[in-house]
Amino acid sequence: MKKLSATEAIRYRRSVRVQSDVPIDSALVKACIANATLAPNSSNMQLWEFYHITSEEANKNIKAACFNQPAARTAQQLIIPVVRMDLWKQRIQALKEDLIAGFEKAKERNPEKEAKAIAYLDDEMPEIYQKKSWWEKFRLQRNIRQQGKTKAVYREVSACDLRIIGQRSTALAAQNFMISMAEVGYDTCPMEGYDSLRIKEILGLPDTAEINMVIGCGIRAENGIYGDQFRLPLEDVYFEK
Ligand SMILES: Cc1cc2nc3c(=O)[nH]c(=O)nc-3n(C[C@H](O)[C@H](O)[C@H](O)COP(=O)(O)O)c2cc1C
Repeated sequence: MKKLSATEAIRYRRSVRVQSDVPIDSALVKACIANATLAPNSSNMQLWEFYHITSEEANKNIKAACFNQPAARTAQQLIIPVVRMDLWKQRIQALKEDLIAGFEKAKERNPEKEAKAIAYLDDEMPEIYQKKSWWEKFRLQRNIRQQGKTKAVYREVSACDLRIIGQRSTALAAQNFMISMAEVGYDTCPMEGYDSLRIKEILGLPDTAEINMVIGCGIRAENGIYGDQFRLPLEDVYFEK
């Protein structure tokens, strides 16, 4: 199959509920996961992991945790993007090492700029990701309200906001993955209908990990798409200001 352009791949992608029994190439799927990791993400923290389910046993168990819904039951392989907010310290370390390597390679050094970049990782990022006591949360919200009276401030700092930040970035990676799959003629179906606790147990993940979605993969069967793609008219959702 000829590789598709981005627009063609976006238009080819559908949520395929019935995959054929034609096997798919794990190496190609893995390459699509590599594309997933190129997605833009919050502060480049890459607080995600991708589980590629290829073994018969794991497939059977994950499918059962997805209630054996058709998109899971008929999938040849499953991909599970996982949000790992709990890995923030390791990710900051990796970013720091990359930053320092970049400084060392630079033709001209700028100690002031370098110190600022390191301080962002050492001081500002932990302030966002560190668990906070009720008093720290209260003080933070009070400061935001106070400062927000006279200037623009960043307000999304609650534990719930942090979960959204992680889910948002990981969902962008999932979309990269699905479009990449479409590019090579493979099909996908994103699913949120599953028992997240069971999936975490099967994958051996800690409580702090969050399942972003489960993506069924394969090659569409003739009856794999349930109907024409319906979208609201663009005028209903597009606003130019
Ligand atoms: C986050 C998310 C969760 C979804 N969960 C399910 C699901 O559990 N089962 C399913 O069959 N489809 C699921 N879908 C697919 C949607 O129903 C589908 O994207 C939508 O109907 C539009 O159809 P299209 O993707 O073919 O354009 C999900 C899609 C998204 C983005």
